[in-house]
Amino acid sequence: MTAREIKKDVFYVGAQDWDRELFDELIPLAEGTSYNSYFVKGKAKNLLIDTVDPAKTEVLVENLKNLGVNRIDYIVSQHAEQDHSGSIPKILELYPQAKVVTNVKCKEFLKSLLLIDESKFIIVDDGTELSLGDKTLKFILTPWVHWPETMSTYLKEDKILFTCDFFGSHVASSELFVGDNTARALEGAKRYYAEIMMPFRAPIKSNLKKIEGLEVELIAPSHGQIYDKPELIVEAYRRWTSDAVQNKVTIVYLSMHGSTVKMVERLIDDLVKMNIVVEPFNVVKMDVGKLAISLVDSATVVIATPTMLVGVHPDVAYAAYLFNALRPKTKFISIINTYSWGGQAIDQLKEILSSVKAEIIDPVSINGYPKDQDLNAIDELSEKIFMKHKKAGIV
Ligand code: FEO
Repeated sequence: MTAREIKKDVFYVGAQDWDRELFDELIPLAEGTSYNSYFVKGKAKNLLIDTVDPAKTEVLVENLKNLGVNRIDYIVSQHAEQDHSGSIPKILELYPQAKVVTNVKCKEFLKSLLLIDESKFIIVDDGTELSLGDKTLKFILTPWVHWPETMSTYLKEDKILFTCDFFGSHVASSELFVGDNTARALEGAKRYYAEIMMPFRAPIKSNLKKIEGLEVELIAPSHGQIYDKPELIVEAYRRWTSDAVQNKVTIVYLSMHGSTVKMVERLIDDLVKMNIVVEPFNVVKMDVGKLAISLVDSATVVIATPTMLVGVHPDVAYAAYLFNALRPKTKFISIINTYSWGGQAIDQLKEILSSVKAEIIDPVSINGYPKDQDLNAIDELSEKIFMKHKKAGIV
């Protein structure tokens, strides 16, 4: 997408990737993505903030050419992952006088991932400032959003905070700014937070505090749109990273012959009667991103699996593995299992979920097709969930 000026002498020079379907060969990209790169023209020096995925290098190069950029003095690398750093070698080739400005940890990653020579780096630390003559950049280390070396950059005179993945979203759009379309922006940002940032909730909280004192007019991440009302995304992040959960149950299930889904349907009916929001996900056809979004603030997660190969169904094991890896703030977990002649599904699931620090409500395990006493056991499970939510003060 063509270069555009976002503030005087600050240009968007990144690329929209309308067609990309998967990120990390795992995350479905419902709306594509973008790799945002920003060119800052100073009176004395010119600077580029992040580059683009190697698949879009030519877009970045063309944007710089069309702007008439014949000198880049600094390339700020806020994060070493290749969707932002992957075009640095090409930019260094085209602008050989440029130096890569980054923190010491990021330098080591860039040397390892992109084979950039040691002589090309200028190292900055938390609070270091860099002058372009009339514009000043201040670097703020914001580690673990979502790698250990991540940092943000504050352009003081223009009050722009560049944040790379932090506050990002996998959205390709011809509109650079969020503007009034806040619902779409927040949905994309919540999906991104859920899939990528959620395991790092604690460091993100610290990083939010770190940027609180800054006067910010624009938050410019390196994925998705630019926030022209920064408080929108900052406040959303405060909510998502807080300890608060909602009166909601996420159900992850799969059924081979109808027994498990019969139990799940009973559970849904019970919970709905108790005014609890229910979000069921059949793992056979679920969107991983929507499950992740649901996990951001659900108080309870119930995993329902038939027994297969003497244990948890492999597709349910995959969903449970993701749940565990995303480390949401879930307060309560339970398990429903159906079997014909035995198995270890419940023990296996408990083992897979070892990183989720939630209280386990007694699982329900039934033999064969659900009978009255089995459905009664589900009623009891629903009642226990309701009481837990009540005690937690969310009903
Ligand atoms: Fe958008 Fe962690 O890279």
